[in-house]
Amino acid sequence: MPRRILIVIGHPDPEPSRLCRALAASYADGARSKGHDVRVVDVANLDFPMLRTMEEFSNRPLPLTLEDAAQAIRDAEHIVFIFPLWLGTMPALLKAFLEQVMRPGIAFAYPEAGRDGFTTSLLRGRSARVVVTMGMPSFLFRLWYLGHGIAGMRRNILNFVGIRPVRETLFGMVDAVSDASRKRWLERMRALGASGS
Ligand SMILES: Cc1cc2nc3c(=O)[nH]c(=O)nc-3n(C[C@H](O)[C@H](O)[C@H](O)COP(=O)(O)O)c2cc1C
Repeated sequence: MPRRILIVIGHPDPEPSRLCRALAASYADGARSKGHDVRVVDVANLDFPMLRTMEEFSNRPLPLTLEDAAQAIRDAEHIVFIFPLWLGTMPALLKAFLEQVMRPGIAFAYPEAGRDGFTTSLLRGRSARVVVTMGMPSFLFRLWYLGHGIAGMRRNILNFVGIRPVRETLFGMVDAVSDASRKRWLERMRALGASGS
């Protein structure tokens, strides 16, 4: 079944030669080749302010420059986040983007005024894949660092707003990658895209 897929490129560097952009392009090619509907949000090309207060988060409208991205998130059935590991987690620009769009009214709802209770997740029914490139070997990130930088994103952001399952694809030792491995990675991304997962 064709799916509506959103690719969020979370690399702050808009340079087209970045590995993350090549991985995103391969995934998109594979997905389109099988008839999936693919949209791309490239966070490096968005102009938006840092969110600074609870008041902005809870009560102010989303910045106009992020309205298309927020709609793309609502429209998607599957969201693929692609970013480099920076200081053990996602780059600050991607976190700033998520702080803006994963806000009340878009991603979750507070209990009605005067009522106790939990928040309601508004993005249920969507799945995600988190694709991360890193300088260290990926097994080291999983075993020594326990994958914390991605687990936080999965549980505190994506699962919180109802997005599950969240699958992970890690590419390690990327700065010294051979041409053959790079080609294999791009083929892997193309296959993931084709399967819509
Ligand atoms: C600011 C910064 C912080 C980084 N922190 C880490 C890190 O904590 N762990 C790691 O394995 N690699 C780290 N790296 C290496 C990047 O993950 C790596 O260069 C990137 O995944 C390469 O992908 P790209 O070509 O798409 O940029 C860091 C790189 C930068 C620029």
